[in-house]
Amino acid sequence: MNLKDTIAVVTGANRGIGLECVQQLLQKGARVYGICRSGCTTDHPNYTCLKADVGNVDEVNKAMDEILAKHDAVDILINNAGLGYFGFCEQLEVEKWQEMFATNVHGIFYCTRRVLPGMKTKQSGHIINIASTAGLEGYAQTSGYCATKFAVRGFSDALYKEVREEGIKVTCVYPGSVKTNFFRHHSGIEPHDYMLQPEDIAAQLIYALESPKNYHPVNLEIRPLQPKGPKKK
Ligand SMILES: NC(=O)c1ccc[n+]([C@@H]2O[C@H](COP(=O)([O-])OP(=O)(O)OC[C@H]3O[C@@H](n4cnc5c(N)ncnc54)[C@H](OP(=O)(O)O)[C@@H]3O)[C@@H](O)[C@H]2O)c1
Repeated sequence: MNLKDTIAVVTGANRGIGLECVQQLLQKGARVYGICRSGCTTDHPNYTCLKADVGNVDEVNKAMDEILAKHDAVDILINNAGLGYFGFCEQLEVEKWQEMFATNVHGIFYCTRRVLPGMKTKQSGHIINIASTAGLEGYAQTSGYCATKFAVRGFSDALYKEVREEGIKVTCVYPGSVKTNFFRHHSGIEPHDYMLQPEDIAAQLIYALESPKNYHPVNLEIRPLQPKGPKKK
């Protein structure tokens, strides 16, 4: 897809991977809407920030109503908003489990269901869901987060089979550790330079979005090559 003048929506757009996606889409000439729960500093004539907690269906619908009042269809949806809480299963608070599912899983459904009708009418569109390697394998003290990302994988796999004949692409992305603020709720992991860089993830998504019409990147597993740094000689 040629990204110039496309209508793109990015959730969780105020920092990390989402912010990089916004910036790279703007560089490509897209008209970008960010869905943010808290402060957003991007200032660009082709950018609008809409306030919504993706886990709140009424707030998502209000933001989507605003976008769809201006445009017949959204061309690109990047379901990026997400968070993780970690710890032993029996110590994970119920509210944190629920917040992870509301944001990481329900939010993707709430946003996706609003863009599909326009994409089907247009017979084109691209939905990218940011899962994690935690959607491919389990990690100790990560049961809730892994459960949400396995759900994202299942949702994406089912959806791609449902809408491919409508000309709509669905890509699920499985990054390993990325150097963002994501690990703020994890007591044992500090961001470092051997993690993936958010701008490199965004560049990979742009590559997927720009792929030829009959080319469909379904699953993208991206890991740091040497997550602990170069081998000591
Ligand atoms: N960093 C990693 O190692 C890594 C690895 C694999 C996958 N991922 C996934 O990548 C995605 C982006 O994470 P990141 O690394 O960029 O982390 P981040 O820097 O913490 O950014 C997360 C973004 O999601 C937003 N968000 C969180 N809850 C939200 C809600 N209820 N409604 C709307 N926005 C919300 C945050 O906004 P607020 O400022 O409002 O919180 C922020 O913009 C997530 O889905 C994460 O699970 C991250």
